[in-house]
Amino acid sequence: MDKIVLKGGKKLEGEVKISGAKNAALPILAALLLTEGWNSISNVPQLGDISTILKLLHELGAEISEDKKDIRVNARNLRNPEVPYDLVKTMRASILVLGPLVARLKRAKVSLPGGCAIGARPINLHLKAFENMGVKINIEHGYVEAKVKRLKGARIYFDIPTVTGTENIMMAACLADGTTILENAAKEPEVVDLATVLSKMGAKIHGAGTDVIMIEGVETLKPMEHQIMPDRIEACTYMVAAGITGGKVKLLNCNPSHCQAVVDKLQEIGLEVSTYNHDGGVLIAGGSDLKATDIKTHPYPGFPTDMQAQIMSLLCLSQGSSIITETIFENRFMHVAELKRMGADITVQGNTAVVKGVEKLSGAQVMATDLRASASLVLAGLAAEGVTEISRVYHLDRGYEDLIGKLFNLGADIERLKA
Ligand code: EPZ
Repeated sequence: MDKIVLKGGKKLEGEVKISGAKNAALPILAALLLTEGWNSISNVPQLGDISTILKLLHELGAEISEDKKDIRVNARNLRNPEVPYDLVKTMRASILVLGPLVARLKRAKVSLPGGCAIGARPINLHLKAFENMGVKINIEHGYVEAKVKRLKGARIYFDIPTVTGTENIMMAACLADGTTILENAAKEPEVVDLATVLSKMGAKIHGAGTDVIMIEGVETLKPMEHQIMPDRIEACTYMVAAGITGGKVKLLNCNPSHCQAVVDKLQEIGLEVSTYNHDGGVLIAGGSDLKATDIKTHPYPGFPTDMQAQIMSLLCLSQGSSIITETIFENRFMHVAELKRMGADITVQGNTAVVKGVEKLSGAQVMATDLRASASLVLAGLAAEGVTEISRVYHLDRGYEDLIGKLFNLGADIERLKA
């Protein structure tokens, strides 16, 4: 398995172009199953998870044509309702085809996504919502079998504002009989980007981005063109990279309004951040004396759980004690043990981590455990004294497009060693 080797201490300087958002591209590519005809999607990030969902769409019968970041998909021959375990086990977001399959084929057989490093991640809220819409759900041999004569609109309340749950039901509701009202819906920008795509297809959706979304079912949806929104988590990861190295980096092609909660906290820690909405730019200058700051993750527009590991690396080098509370997932501190091997002073109690700032981190051999934990180790390595070697880098390939190249171009002493 490949590994990343980086020598810390270099200030990052220059510009970095933010790629399309993984967590917008995944539901949007799944939504193309709802139409017959060629859809064109641009600014698609070249990532492991994107390759996985394209393989899945092809297995289901869709025609795909790829040209780097431009993907064309035609699901006119969609016929296979089955999603095998070996695809779902590599990417839980495969569950996003459940809604489109039920809407188009009136049946689906999708392997239950197992847990993952960060938690059990059940899909009970997705399934309960589908049952409200008249879908018969049967779970056996590790598969969800869903069957319906005619999807009907329903009023659905999510106990938790599930992101992919909101997306799954939104997609199915577009072709249901009658109106669906989603209450306590997720408000993430990626949900809004999906709603924009569905509306372009002819769906009637109101309220995306708020906690009540109303969808009036229509007979059919037509193919369209769309450009994927910028990846706010990638953008915020590079903001931390600039801050942790004391450098000065301009992000291009990002959407500062999607990053507000993180920008506020970075400014509280002591970074200088200027945002330019006109060209989607954000300029970050690393502060010299970083100060301890408390972080609590929340659903959007709160501080995103997908940035918790990365900001922890920055707080390891901030003066004083910071309290980080993870409220979304039950096991999202896998990066703590690895950061401690680099000299961090962190104590975990349940879903809270107390981070005591240290003078310096030292390079070490560490192991990536999940996508965002891997990013936090790269960030720590950029600032650590000496050499850091990160193994299991396939986790990073799932969610960061050309991370090594982008960091190298900003002046990092980083390379990827083929195993
Ligand atoms: C999406 O996952 C993202 N993935 C995750 O990003 C992100 O961390 C998460 O939302 C929270 O923002 C994609 O969009 C592909 P949830 P999702 O359903 O939809 C519980 C990354 O690093 N829950 O909003 O799976 C669940 O266990 C990934 O890019 C149920 O209990 O997350 C969790 O505690 C990691 N039952 C909470 O809700 C359900 O049926 C939020 O989960 C569904 C969820």
